[in-house]
Amino acid sequence: MLSTHSRFVGTGYYVPERIVTNHELSEVMDTSDEWIVERTGIRQRRWVPEGMTGAEMARRASMMALTDGDLVPADIDAIVLGTLSPDHFFPGTGVFLQRALGLEGVPCLDLRAQCSGFVYGLSVADAWIRSGQYETVLVVGVEIQSTGLDMSTRGRDMAVLFGDGAGAAVLQATQNENQGILTTRIHADGRHAEILWAEAASSSHHPRIDAKMIEEGRHFPTMEGKEVFRHAVTRMPEAVLEVLGENGLEPDDIDLLIPHQANLRISQMVQRRLGLSDEKVFNNIEKYGNTTAATIPIALAEAVREGLVNRGDLVCMVAFGSGFTWGASLVRW
Ligand code: COA
Repeated sequence: MLSTHSRFVGTGYYVPERIVTNHELSEVMDTSDEWIVERTGIRQRRWVPEGMTGAEMARRASMMALTDGDLVPADIDAIVLGTLSPDHFFPGTGVFLQRALGLEGVPCLDLRAQCSGFVYGLSVADAWIRSGQYETVLVVGVEIQSTGLDMSTRGRDMAVLFGDGAGAAVLQATQNENQGILTTRIHADGRHAEILWAEAASSSHHPRIDAKMIEEGRHFPTMEGKEVFRHAVTRMPEAVLEVLGENGLEPDDIDLLIPHQANLRISQMVQRRLGLSDEKVFNNIEKYGNTTAATIPIALAEAVREGLVNRGDLVCMVAFGSGFTWGASLVRW
């Protein structure tokens, strides 16, 4: 008997209309287009308008993914949503998305794996589908970074990197052994938790945040950029080789690698370490910056629409982020 696993039946994304260029940032902090492009490859990012929520961006991306798969919200059996910027401390953004989709009863799992949120989500959704628990699972990555960054020179190393957006994919059970998710492997190493984090607001402080903490900027995310870079360019190739190796495949077999869009220089180094040619690696960071959990599903949805992903292709998605967390998913499209 053929074993059940998941295949992608639809992809979608949504990014806010407002484009923020590097030049615009250089008007509010000491930075420059040259510095940002040279170090990161980013030329612009999107920011949400006042009132736009993560749940609403997730709804738009999800509807696009459902329509792409000729499905309607009522077909969804479960929602997995990755974000590090939830609309509220609790409940998770997943239930707001569920409500916006007009659903009730189906489970909503918010995942806190930062930039690896979508790959973690694929792992969970595929496991549910393989176990027979659910047949159709919506996996979403959504992020609003712009409302949480330090837009002064103090925060420039972080502020220039991040953007807002949402991406979604619908996974469905299949028994076709020539199609679908082959393997997803996820990892974490909490020894490095504070290298890339937002300390507050926090339940370990009483009160969770106060005026002094805000004055000190402890509610803004901070990062040791060089350390993050160093770990990312090691862990990402490692994760790709792990999922390939489990399937008896080599980097050369990959048709399209979709790396988490953290920094073009990271993606280029990962590409070099895997010996892949330019046309086999998808990059859109120049348009959107790092949208954390949303980069991979946005990139996947764009790659599909650009005709870069076709039936039978071997697609590999690989992520690395705060935690540290990382992982890769290998898919026969
Ligand atoms: N504009 C101008 N100058 C900036 C700047 C900005 N936006 N951000 C930092 N600088 C300055 C620093 O203050 C420093 O100045 P100094 O030499 O006078 O002290 C100088 O540029 C070099 O900073 P450094 O941090 O050493 O730069 P870097 O070469 O490591 O590049 C990153 C910084 C953030 C681009 C790089 O470390 C990186 O990409 N790291 C990975 C980040 C990432 O991907 N995070 C998310 C992972 S999911």
